[in-house]
Amino acid sequence: MNCRIGVISGDGIGPEIVREARKVLDRVAERYGHSFVYKELLLGGASIDVHGVPLTEETIEQAKACDAVLMGSIGGDAKTSPWYQLEPSRRPEAGLLGIRKALNLFANLRPAYLYEELRAACPLREDISAAGFDMLIMRELTGGLYFGARKTEEVDGVLTAVDTLSYNEHEIRRIAKRAFDIAMKRRKKVCSVDKANVLDSSRLWRRIVEEVAEDYPEVELSHMYVDNCAMQLVLHPAQFDVILTENMFGDILSDEASMVTGSIGMLSSASLNDTKFGLYEPSHGSAPDIAGQDRANPIATILSAAMMLRYTFDLDREADAVEAAVRQVLKEGFRTGDILSEGCTYTTTTQMGDLIADRI
Ligand code: IPM
Ligand code: MG
Repeated sequence: MNCRIGVISGDGIGPEIVREARKVLDRVAERYGHSFVYKELLLGGASIDVHGVPLTEETIEQAKACDAVLMGSIGGDAKTSPWYQLEPSRRPEAGLLGIRKALNLFANLRPAYLYEELRAACPLREDISAAGFDMLIMRELTGGLYFGARKTEEVDGVLTAVDTLSYNEHEIRRIAKRAFDIAMKRRKKVCSVDKANVLDSSRLWRRIVEEVAEDYPEVELSHMYVDNCAMQLVLHPAQFDVILTENMFGDILSDEASMVTGSIGMLSSASLNDTKFGLYEPSHGSAPDIAGQDRANPIATILSAAMMLRYTFDLDREADAVEAAVRQVLKEGFRTGDILSEGCTYTTTTQMGDLIADRI
């Protein structure tokens, strides 16, 4: 298969982890007879440095011309980086939100899985982690608070800031369908997370999710308030299969879910629209404190590349091979610093990429 892959190396540890993911993809191409052609795209701080803005029309057009985009991470240290002297709409994160919107990437899939081998890195009590967990957060990505009108102004001499949380029924329906579709391929459970005891947007969310559920009689639907969900994720994570939620709640809950897997350095993600196109990126940030030191964990990016093989290119066998190679390396005791525990072998970013590629 011939695949055109856009690559956003981005900022901080981005270039290092993307380099390792490409190493793994190149091994897949060699082993299974595919051709992956990469096109470097600028986004975030790297784009600000060249063009003065975090996202250009050129990047959007180049991304659209690719079958999929693999991304590292964007952003810098908000205290020290000059990017954060710019007004909010010109900072690195605005570029990421802009490309999500421009490419209509409304469905963000964030799997959180506890590897048997990483149980020691899981911060939960042993009697909780013993049950293991395997969940997928389906986060709405192009609506809600992130994209509603916002302003800061003086009202009667008092500084006042407003952000708007709005969802229409179409936005809710299309993400709910995605959650139910994927639940059908998993354990057939959807837990829809909202704050329907307070918010109108959540009450509409619940109503539309219930409507969609009628088309999926085999899927068991439950509803949970977001505050309770935050608690349940650390109390009884094994109960979850698919968690369906809006943009802001999904942002927060996915960080929490990733941390209970042992490290946010393990969590991949896919952002999809209604075509086969996808933007694949780790759920973690750019970790500027360890950038360029060969210390970052490339596994989340490598697993994101596996998601790309699976969801955009339908290369399930190849995706399975990447995931199996990751598991194998963990089984053999190799660990980057973030997941290191007693008796394991410390590996650098580069070594981790080599080890995984070698096992494909
Ligand atoms: C994420 C990140 C982004 C988000 C930031 C960088 C804007 O935290 O992908 O979860 O909030 O969506
Ligand atoms: Mg986040």
